[in-house]
Parts: sequence; C-alpha cells; structure tokens
Amino acid sequence: MQPDVHEPDCLRRFTRLCVDACARGWHEANGGNLSYRLDEDDLVALAPLLEPESQWHGLKRAVPELAGAHVLMSASGAYLSNVAYDPSHICGIIQLDACGESWRACWGFADDARPSSELETHLAAYATALRAGDGADRVVYHAHAPHVIALSTLIEPSPRAWTRTLWRTMTEGIVVFPQGIGALPWMVPGSPELAEATCELMAVHRACVWTQHGIMARAAGFDEAFGIIDTVEKSAGIHLGARAANGGAEPRHLVSDEQLRAICERYGLTPNEGFLD
Ligand code: 13P
Ligand code: ZN
Repeated sequence: MQPDVHEPDCLRRFTRLCVDACARGWHEANGGNLSYRLDEDDLVALAPLLEPESQWHGLKRAVPELAGAHVLMSASGAYLSNVAYDPSHICGIIQLDACGESWRACWGFADDARPSSELETHLAAYATALRAGDGADRVVYHAHAPHVIALSTLIEPSPRAWTRTLWRTMTEGIVVFPQGIGALPWMVPGSPELAEATCELMAVHRACVWTQHGIMARAAGFDEAFGIIDTVEKSAGIHLGARAANGGAEPRHLVSDEQLRAICERYGLTPNEGFLD
C-alpha cells in the first residue's frame, strides 16, 4: 500500500497544477516537468513519509545555494496526467547533500523511477532565483504550451522580440511579466547548455521560451507558476489568431509603448526599460 500522500499541502498543490495543465493540453505523453522546493512546514508535514535512500547521485554542476534542500519533482518519463492516481511513481522528493553536489531520493520515485531529465535545469533555476533574491524561488515548471511552440516557429528567439510581441498583443502581459520573458534558440532537451543558457536569462526573467520545445518558469508558488505560463500561452494564441485573421501579416492595432507606460504607471510596475521604445 502506498502512503496517503494527498494530505500534505504541497503535494495537493503539485497535483492540482498537473491536472489543470494537462486539461489545457500542455503535457502530451511525458512532456514537461514540475518541481517544488520544500519549506520548513512542508518538511514537518512530510517527515513521517521521508525515508532517505543510502545511495547519493552526483550532479554535473554543483548547486551550493541548495545545500541540504529538499525538492519535490516529477519523474523522468512520467505522464503528469497520472499524478493524482499514482503519485509515488509519478514524482518523488530528493534531498541535496550539505555541499549541493549530489542528491538522494527520500520519498516516491517508486520502482526505480528517477527525477526528470531536466533535474539539473530545475536545480540551477532555483540557485539563480535565490541569487536574484526576488522571492520567485519555490516552483520551477516546464510546459509544452502549444501556442508558445507554434509562435516560436515564426519569431526570432530573442527576449526583446518575444516580450514586445506579447506585451503589445494583450494588456495583461506587462502586468504579469513586467521584467519581460527570455527566449532561446533550439537546444537539446535536458542538456547542460540548455540549463546554463536558461538560468542566465532567468536571472532577470521569470519565464524563458525554448524554441520549438516549450517554456520554463520560476515562481513564488504553484499559482504564480501556472499563471505566468497561462498568460504567455494565451497571448501567444491570441497573437497567432490575429495574425492568421490578418492574412499572416503582423496585426495593425497593437498596444503602443505609450499605453504600456500608462499601464505601469497606473499599477506601480517597473517594466524592463530595455524592451520599451
Ligand atoms: P522528462 O520526462 O524527463 O521530465 O522530460 C520531459 C521533457 O519535457 C524534457 O524537456
Ligand atoms: Zn520538454
């Protein structure tokens, strides 16, 4: 019998995000992955379930910022759509050693399941977030959002091009991601190069587009992680729809730079000036 893992709040929220995101069509097969950095209250609630394995696994790149941390993470190859039915196979909790150089499983990852192939990207994103000190450091989430992928086949993979396209399509964009979003050209999934390039951009941005692949976000909580990807995905879809309705050409009536500045003034936002004209 598997323990009842639905009780701890972080597992309930983890499951809720997976279920909601799968309903949106963001996770075909085993596409995408999710992690959560546990806090002290989570550790108290989960203590009866934690049984650390003796075997440690070395990381290619150390993350001293995460020394001793516990991270709940989806398993490699797991279908996120199944997390509600079979949590201990679909995800698990790892603990980092005292130097942040290796990890061991403490719960879940049943039948030799292993953390996501993007484990090192997730850990590097937490390290980046903690260094940035902006509080968006509890959840790292990667989704195969279809409109983001479609738009990535049309526009250049630059943070400025992506940010301006989305800010100017839908008013809410600059409210949800005033720092703008990052964007990278196609890279091998799970590779150290992708992890490094993503983290460089995520020092400034809360989300980063992976061309022809999807998007990764870091956030203070599950709602914020879902919310930023939902907003990027929705505005990408609106932009694609407007462009198609306009015979494939750039839509003519977009939010102007003056209007973007007015939104920031009204809502007390500090936008990334590099993306405004
Ligand atoms: P995992 O199943 O290893 O998490 O990989 C899915 C994915 O989307 C890789 O980018
Ligand atoms: Zn992926």
